[in-house]
Amino acid sequence: MYRTHNNGGLRAANIGETVTLSGWVQKSRDKGFMIWVDLRDRYGITQLIFDEERTPKDVMESARDLGREFVVQVTGEVIERESKNPKMPTGDIEILVKELKVLNSSRTPPFTIETETDGGEDLRMKYRYLDIRRNPVKEKLIFRHKVTIAVRNYLSEQGFIEVETPYLIKSTPEGARDFVVPSRMNEGQFYALPQSPQTFKQLLMVGGMDKYFQIVKCFRDEDLRADRQPEFTQIDCEMAFVEQEDILNVFEGLTKFLLKEINGVEINKFPRMTYDEAMARYGNDKPDIRFGMEFGELNEVAQHKGFNVFNNADLVVGIAIPGGAQYTRKEIDKLIDWVKRPQVGALGMVYVKCNEDGTYKSSVDKFYDDQDLAKWAEKTGAKPGDLICVLSGESQKTRAQLSALRMEMAERLGLRKADEFAPLWVVDFPLLEWDEETERYHAMHHPFTSPKPGQLEMLDSDPGAVKANAYDLVLNGNEIGGGSIRIFDSETQSTMFDHLGFTKEEAQAQFGFLMEAFKYGAPPHGGIAFGLDRLVAILGGQETIRDFIAFPKNNAGRDVMIDAPATIDDAQLKELNLKVTL
Ligand code: AMO
Repeated sequence: MYRTHNNGGLRAANIGETVTLSGWVQKSRDKGFMIWVDLRDRYGITQLIFDEERTPKDVMESARDLGREFVVQVTGEVIERESKNPKMPTGDIEILVKELKVLNSSRTPPFTIETETDGGEDLRMKYRYLDIRRNPVKEKLIFRHKVTIAVRNYLSEQGFIEVETPYLIKSTPEGARDFVVPSRMNEGQFYALPQSPQTFKQLLMVGGMDKYFQIVKCFRDEDLRADRQPEFTQIDCEMAFVEQEDILNVFEGLTKFLLKEINGVEINKFPRMTYDEAMARYGNDKPDIRFGMEFGELNEVAQHKGFNVFNNADLVVGIAIPGGAQYTRKEIDKLIDWVKRPQVGALGMVYVKCNEDGTYKSSVDKFYDDQDLAKWAEKTGAKPGDLICVLSGESQKTRAQLSALRMEMAERLGLRKADEFAPLWVVDFPLLEWDEETERYHAMHHPFTSPKPGQLEMLDSDPGAVKANAYDLVLNGNEIGGGSIRIFDSETQSTMFDHLGFTKEEAQAQFGFLMEAFKYGAPPHGGIAFGLDRLVAILGGQETIRDFIAFPKNNAGRDVMIDAPATIDDAQLKELNLKVTL
């Protein structure tokens, strides 16, 4: 038996017991006549003591040779510590070692295996298995497990059945590029890894499964960001005989349950906001509503006063930054530089200081008097002491720029509190989205999403205005989930493919199986998928999903630990009938 207890469990009540422990040497202090070793495992740390007077000589000798991260097994007596450590759960006791067995030695680790480590990101990724021994990483993985189990239990209790769907499939269009896998047995042909199990879950509804879920890997070849990985995990769900309202209710239930179960937070408000409203009020389809700083549209009060920049703009829009009237000229200049960075892309920024005495000082005093500026303050909700920041230009771009400023200022002002949770639904998304590059409309969600009732006809006359039965779940400014009510008759589905620019042949080749299935009694259905990595990160108070994934990829999509992707040898290429030309 390797151990009778783990390293987190022994307390004063165990004093006098003989125990066997196994684990890694966290650190060792050799005082000559006495040696102390901190022994670590997943459960905690227990202090070992080797004492010249009470520990056998040979054991004492081998204890002197222990290096960091050696794997050892010890047997000894639980004794009371002379100097107790109230910060450690096992801080009242130590183990007086009688027997020591080195199970494995270890090279000196390339970084310290401590909560605060000296290892940089790259090094820690290369030796991820060592990083996982560190508390912060280990705890995040355990946290993810807790969330996952809670999700499974909740959905299972609600009557959902977990069904696995295949990974070797053909393209599911979710807006990213596919990862493809060559087929040895079918020369010149490729599988695509699923961007999501979208078509399969719809086929499960045709198959009568009624309520499906799956915690499932999805693969998307897209540019990476803090909240994106090329392979990530979804809580994928689908239900038959439901309307949008049913789906929103079930998954509002799941979200509330998780916040209560995992974070101990009771959610009373779960607002719904249309896409148009979210864009108008926050410039963003995933607004962080933990704080205000809502947009105030100023066209009416700022145009036609002689200031040409505003006169020529589609949209003049501002936000009030709490307490910002105190900013120095230098600080404001820095803010202007910030919005002019290429990542944000504003051409400039107009500002108004709302002085405590009710007067105003603006960067456009030449054109606007206090009476004008008072109207700006009213529209942006600015109070005395605030700073109004105003951007202008083409509507969509200006909204995105001001939204970036709003999020940045909230971050700087500490308004994005990790332990505060504000979920909401964003509903009534546009069905289609204009793509500048291909000069075509694309499905904003995916091509299986149904238009709002009665709007199908508008696809010809005003495609951009058609709204979809699509919804996103937003939590603290992050898109946690998205879904829709689906098209379930093959004719409408075929019309949709026409509008998305597929020829009949292309649609048939790619999605013929789905349209055929719809001819065999497909029930009305809809669903949603949550990004599990994002959900776990947000519940854990963070926004970088990488930390909550055991073996994540870096920003270039590489696994630096196993060094993938990599070339394959000629024999393998030949077997697959592939030629690589670089
Ligand atoms: P969607 O494409 O919106 O919908 O994806 C659902 C959720 O998955 C998460 N997500 C990601 N997380 C990490 N890395 C990525 N690269 C990544 N891409 C997406 C997001 C997102 O909200 N089949 C539809 C769902 C449906 O219609 O039911 C779908 O996949 O949190």
